[in-house]
Amino acid sequence: MKVAVLGAAGGIGQALSLLLKTQLPAGSELSLYDVAPVVPGVAVDLSHIPTAVDVKGFGADDLGAALKDADIVIIPAGMPRKPGMDRADLFNVNAGIVRTLAEGIVANCPNAMVGVITNPVNGTVPIVAEVFKKAGIYNEGRRIFGVTTLDVIRAETFVAENQGFNVADVKVPVIGGHSGTTILPLLSQVEGANFSDEDIAKLTDRIQNAGTEVVNAKAGGGSATLSMGAAAARFCLSLVKGLQGEDVVDYAYVAVDGGDAPYFAHPVRLGKNGVEEILSYGELSAFETKAKEDMLATLNKDIQEGVDFANG
Ligand SMILES: NC(=O)c1ccc[n+]([C@@H]2O[C@H](COP(=O)([O-])OP(=O)(O)OC[C@H]3O[C@@H](n4cnc5c(N)ncnc54)[C@H](O)[C@@H]3O)[C@@H](O)[C@H]2O)c1
Repeated sequence: MKVAVLGAAGGIGQALSLLLKTQLPAGSELSLYDVAPVVPGVAVDLSHIPTAVDVKGFGADDLGAALKDADIVIIPAGMPRKPGMDRADLFNVNAGIVRTLAEGIVANCPNAMVGVITNPVNGTVPIVAEVFKKAGIYNEGRRIFGVTTLDVIRAETFVAENQGFNVADVKVPVIGGHSGTTILPLLSQVEGANFSDEDIAKLTDRIQNAGTEVVNAKAGGGSATLSMGAAAARFCLSLVKGLQGEDVVDYAYVAVDGGDAPYFAHPVRLGKNGVEEILSYGELSAFETKAKEDMLATLNKDIQEGVDFANG
């Protein structure tokens, strides 16, 4: 299994690479790419950890070698938010970075599973999709995933806290997009939970704005990196299991034909071809139905921005 991390020297990239070095199956190869000159050093540093995962670092001019024949590519390359910015403010900087990296994937590992972390995910995933379409390797977007796992793990943490549950046992579906109100946790589906209307409003708002909680707490020092690293590692390991033929279901922002929007986070069955099946997210409460209807215009606009950028 070859896993490439693009943007591996950054806050998320380093945390994710550390977790992959310690958690990928023995015999895997971890390929670290970044334009920052520190990336070979990150690879040397990780290579001293005694696991059977081979780590190599690749600098700015070596994207092709970093990606060559990768099975999975995870992309946390790009600028994070500062206080006062929302994820859409990042679009102008990060859209070009994601397009260049997607072109590198087309040229060097067109069959790879691609997990996009770079914000705004609502728009960067359609950019990768449009690049794949132009190259004739799109295959209904089955290998392209917006990583929304951070929303899922935050929801698990906050719900466990609110309900006094053991966090290891909590499952919270989160659907929609990955910014503000487009993030839709389905609290009505949490088994054994008993929420007041006030709890539901507060928890939903906290899950939607948890990124801002971190941005403000870091006071100009960046956005979520450690929790995002943990989330990305969890999702990457789901992709690994799928590629190894295990039956695994996880949540991700994927292309959906005839769904609520052209891209929407759903539970998906993962396998050797990527998305094997898009599963239904089930029944919504009245609160969730309204929240979904209210956010679709924003989500569709974010998606169109990505499509227009890629084709502009
Ligand atoms: N999906 C999510 O849930 C989620 C959560 C948090 C942050 N993010 C996003 O992840 C991205 C990275 O965040 P971070 O905190 O790690 O930022 P960071 O600044 O710490 O790291 C970004 C890294 O990307 C590298 N980079 C820039 N341009 C590149 C290019 N063309 N090719 C390769 N590498 C390049 C930089 O050198 C840097 O090392 C941001 O866009 C942030 O908004 C997403």
